[in-house]
Amino acid sequence: MALPEIRTVGVVGLGAMGAGIAQLAVEAGYEVVGREVTADLGQQARDRIAHFLQRKVDKERMTADDRDAALGRLSLTTELTSLAGCDLVVEAIVENLDAKLTLFAELEGIVGPDAILATNTSALSVTEIASAVTAPARVVGMHFFNPAPLMPLVEIVRAELTSDQVVEIAYAIGERLGKRPIRCHDTPGFVVNRVLIPLLNDCLRVLDEARVSPEDLDTAMTAGAGWPMGPCTLVDLVGIDVHVHASEALYEKLREPRMAPPPRIVAMKNAGLLGRKSGRGFYAYD
Ligand code: 3HC
Repeated sequence: MALPEIRTVGVVGLGAMGAGIAQLAVEAGYEVVGREVTADLGQQARDRIAHFLQRKVDKERMTADDRDAALGRLSLTTELTSLAGCDLVVEAIVENLDAKLTLFAELEGIVGPDAILATNTSALSVTEIASAVTAPARVVGMHFFNPAPLMPLVEIVRAELTSDQVVEIAYAIGERLGKRPIRCHDTPGFVVNRVLIPLLNDCLRVLDEARVSPEDLDTAMTAGAGWPMGPCTLVDLVGIDVHVHASEALYEKLREPRMAPPPRIVAMKNAGLLGRKSGRGFYAYD
């Protein structure tokens, strides 16, 4: 099967995940149109991408010319209509179903008839998101992991009505982005979060049960179970709010007690302790 060529990728929402996805796409040679709600937020994302590309140059993993060429492929906009020429749009906005439904309905009226619409949702249903459009065959999940430029996996999530061709194109794009894609169906949490969310919640419950400090729990799981980073460090990285939302969404769908967010972390979210992005979570950050 000949796959249509993808040249221009739109990324809607340039937070940590969206900026990471945009970075991957410009590095892979795609033209990228990144959309944020304000020019300031767009500029912050560009600065973040420029910073990480510069680190690659510093470590001689990229030439200065390649860095400049990659940054030159990134254009920023606050207007959704600027995504009209995109062959693929990856949505990475807030994890709110209504916001995603509104966005997908708008996008369908802007992009061409063959453009693929992908969502990076962590815990919402891709099928529900696809219900916002009249041609749900073109909607697919492309679920990246935080930090997107470093984590090799992308889950290619087939919703109920996604076409085979769209799944295969998304898979091929995942490979071109340098990822190790897997194919899965649209079930709550897909593959990784179905396993990781309850596991992290177990870890957080152990904090209270075993009266262990976050530092010691992290040491336990890195030094005793081979995790690359401890659970408290990881939840701080992902975002306490993102983790609570994913836990609640999976609990709502699966009704398994282990999915429910432990009260300690809900209290942290309510207090604005969101992890790295707010400067404080289990740990304090500069
Ligand atoms: N974006 C781009 N580049 C980045 C980056 C980012 N966010 N963070 C770091 N880098 C670059 C930096 O240039 C850095 O080098 P520098 O420090 O010299 O500038 C370089 O990558 C290497 O960084 P590290 O030294 O921190 O890399 P490590 O070898 O320590 O590995 C890790 C970091 C890959 C994050 C590793 O600790 C790991 O695998 N942690 C587990 C992460 C994980 O499990 N993620 C999944 C979360 S769940 C999820 O995302 C699902 C969602 O739906 C909730």
